[in-house]
Amino acid sequence: MASESVHKTLGVALVLCIVCAVIVSSAAVILRPAQEENKLLDLKTNILASAGLLQSGKGVEEQFEQITTRIVDLETGRFTDEVDPLTYDQRKASRDPKMSVALKPDDDLAKIKRKAKFATVYLVETDQGIDKIILPIKGYGLWSTLYGFLALESDLQTVAGIGFYEHAETPGLGGEIDNPTWKKTWIGKQAYNSGEMAISVVKGKVDLTRPESDYQIDGLAGATLTTRGVNNLVQFWLGNEGFQPLINFLKSGESYNG
Ligand SMILES: Cc1cc2nc3c(=O)[nH]c(=O)nc-3n(C[C@H](O)[C@H](O)[C@H](O)COP(=O)(O)O)c2cc1C
Repeated sequence: MASESVHKTLGVALVLCIVCAVIVSSAAVILRPAQEENKLLDLKTNILASAGLLQSGKGVEEQFEQITTRIVDLETGRFTDEVDPLTYDQRKASRDPKMSVALKPDDDLAKIKRKAKFATVYLVETDQGIDKIILPIKGYGLWSTLYGFLALESDLQTVAGIGFYEHAETPGLGGEIDNPTWKKTWIGKQAYNSGEMAISVVKGKVDLTRPESDYQIDGLAGATLTTRGVNNLVQFWLGNEGFQPLINFLKSGESYNG
């Protein structure tokens, strides 16, 4: 009788385990498409927000209709159709040896080790051409890789905004990269000076009486290492290893849709 009840207990436990496992795995499978959709919606929200385009009370999908997604060959600085902008995953590509290149330590200012050959950029276009360009940026801070977007105005050098959508810096210290007041200080700063990448994030406060202040952003108090990381990653992505070849090409006025 005793052993029968032990068997029964184990049997009930086993059945319960199987039922729970089936429920959990079914939920994971069923919810995956919704999760992917939400992730994409979140990314679109961040793309719009980084360029100061996000409006409350209006659907993100509807607002994203003003954005054209394009793929850039980072080596040539030209747009390419080699991969589909709607399915290309730059983060995945940067881990794939066939789709990425290893960076020499001296070139790897952003501390990312590998760089995808192609990058996804986002354009707001008018009849006159590019009104805003939104560039993906990433690089190492203190504790984590920071992922975000930096947007430039139609002159391709005035910063329209910046935003990070993923990082694990300390809230209140490095995490202040999400502080809206700090992010606002980027708007209107100049990324290039006579075609040379010139923007930097300084330690402490920018001296606004000096002419170089047009190219400088305040560092974050008590977060020197995250500040340095942001400085390095922005300089990397706006520099020759990043989007500078594309920016130079677009500034040349040659047709980019041909
Ligand atoms: C628990 C803890 C978390 C920290 N998180 C960060 C961080 O996210 N980013 C950062 O730059 N510094 C962080 N720091 C501070 C750095 O270790 C370092 O002291 C700081 O960057 C130096 O900044 P300061 O020169 O402005 O004092 C943290 C320190 C502690 C103790």
